[in-house]
Amino acid sequence: MDNPHPWAETLPLLYEHLWARLIRGVHDRHAPARHPVLATVSAQGVPQARTLVLRGADKPTATLTFYTDLHSAKVEELRTSPLAALHIWDASAHLQMRIDASVTLMTGDDVSDIWQRLPEHSRLAYSSNAAPGTPIADSLAYSKTPDQAAFAVLRLDIQAIDALHLGPDHRRARFTRADEWAGQWLVP
Ligand SMILES: Cc1cc2nc3c(=O)[nH]c(=O)nc-3n(C[C@H](O)[C@H](O)[C@H](O)COP(=O)(O)O)c2cc1C
Repeated sequence: MDNPHPWAETLPLLYEHLWARLIRGVHDRHAPARHPVLATVSAQGVPQARTLVLRGADKPTATLTFYTDLHSAKVEELRTSPLAALHIWDASAHLQMRIDASVTLMTGDDVSDIWQRLPEHSRLAYSSNAAPGTPIADSLAYSKTPDQAAFAVLRLDIQAIDALHLGPDHRRARFTRADEWAGQWLVP
């Protein structure tokens, strides 16, 4: 059977395509890469995974950007261990991406221009009066007041991407920053 995804057949084309799918996630709310799963490690060494919205993807620097609440558990975890794994299953492309990254936490003046551009309803997710995960007496016993001081940007400097393409043939490749993204085929 012909490969419906010829971009999976060479390392440079595959790498280009990974980035095309990531960038589409930033701009298209229905794209699979819109909602990656970000995994961190708790202080007790327990893996923690959650869905986030992909806010930025820059191929030249191989960085991704997410927004979060500074008081959330993931921020505390990243302060202890600034490494993260990201998972995306792009079903229409038959493509799994597993990304290793080092994470830089950005707050305050460094992110105030981003905060200024956020619509009011989006700012509601970032509040200092109700830390995510705080126990409450009833399901809606909380209020959120937008607060720039609670707004944090996570910049992920990608170190490696493991790509698995499940076409008529299965292909797997690993691209690393250390190897300047040249790529290496792997047994799937
Ligand atoms: C579709 C979807 C999108 C989400 N987007 C974000 C996001 O962009 N930033 C964020 O901090 N949490 C987002 N969340 C909530 C997180 O998954 C998580 O519940 C929250 O950040 C608390 O996680 P933590 O306690 O591990 O820090 C999203 C959840 C879903 C289901």
